[in-house]
Amino acid sequence: MLLPATKENIEKAAGIIAAGGIVAFPTETVYGLGANAKNPSAVKKIFAAKGRPATNPLIVHISDYREIAQVASLPDRGHILENLDKLKHLWPGPLSVVLPKRGDIPDEVTAGRYSVAVRIPSHPVALALIRAAKCPIAAPSANRSDYVSPTTAQHVEQDIGQNINCILDGGQCSGGLESTVISLIEKTPVLLRPGLISKESLEAILGPVHIGYSETPIGAAASPGMSNKHYSPRTKLVFESDIPSEASALRLGLIALGPTEGLLAKYKFEKITALSTSGSLEDACSKLYATLREMDTAQLDLIVVQSCAESGIGLAIMDRLKRAASK
Ligand code: TXA
Ligand code: MG
Repeated sequence: MLLPATKENIEKAAGIIAAGGIVAFPTETVYGLGANAKNPSAVKKIFAAKGRPATNPLIVHISDYREIAQVASLPDRGHILENLDKLKHLWPGPLSVVLPKRGDIPDEVTAGRYSVAVRIPSHPVALALIRAAKCPIAAPSANRSDYVSPTTAQHVEQDIGQNINCILDGGQCSGGLESTVISLIEKTPVLLRPGLISKESLEAILGPVHIGYSETPIGAAASPGMSNKHYSPRTKLVFESDIPSEASALRLGLIALGPTEGLLAKYKFEKITALSTSGSLEDACSKLYATLREMDTAQLDLIVVQSCAESGIGLAIMDRLKRAASK
């Protein structure tokens, strides 16, 4: 059921969550699929609806920093608290922080780990929903597991609409890429997933940050969600530099991130989308997943994508594209 995110419908969705149901809702990054984080049987429904492996832990969303004690077990001093203090001004926003978990956060949420990822989203609908539900909300991205994350309510409906109680439609997500995940458990913080908050900006605040995900997308990572199967369209995707020799005989799509003259002279593309006409990588992020989905329904044999520099949010864009290309 797709409902416009009005005040009444947010109340209704909050009622569903409080009663142990699951609801899809917009955040500033991508749509999430939420349940009461303290209700193990509700949380299990998320995994069933997405076909998500139980080994991949969820992010717990709260609406205010004061609620963090409902989720995390914070020491009263030491490096965890010091680093959290330095980062908390980035909330509400696209940052998830891995902290020691509180005892009553079910193993279903954390996949049996002693840590929990916490985030305060900035989207007003997400914040209103958490407040109205009066509980922390565990929520992964609201896509079928291993597919591209949803940035509109329609994407959610197409993927898992029949499996869930309701979808709050808040329009298109502005950010378009999942939150940055950083673990503060270790003395030197560990970046578990690059995202809209860049590694450089985190290092400017925290000092050195280790990379904790596999940069060549293979195998299990410290953050299990960072496996190569993620973020992939069904249609094969390659970078411009890896176009196979038989490509001229194939139906091609092009996702452009830079100048295209050379490519257009050499190949015929059935469909071309420029991710950013302004050259801004923020614009590219906000269009990336919708573009991958559109290309995937265009009956192409091969999607060609251009690369960008792996700095700032370019690191996150390239991370997702490499995973999509590695399938
Ligand atoms: O932007 C986002 O983060 C969106 C919106 C809905 O908030 N959520 C999202 O959730 O992308 P999901 O489940 O698709 O990705 C969560 C990531 C996964 O890579 C997961 O392995 C990691 O966070 N994660 C969660 N809890 C963790 C923990 N305790 N330790 C290490 N990694 C964790
Ligand atoms: Mg996801």
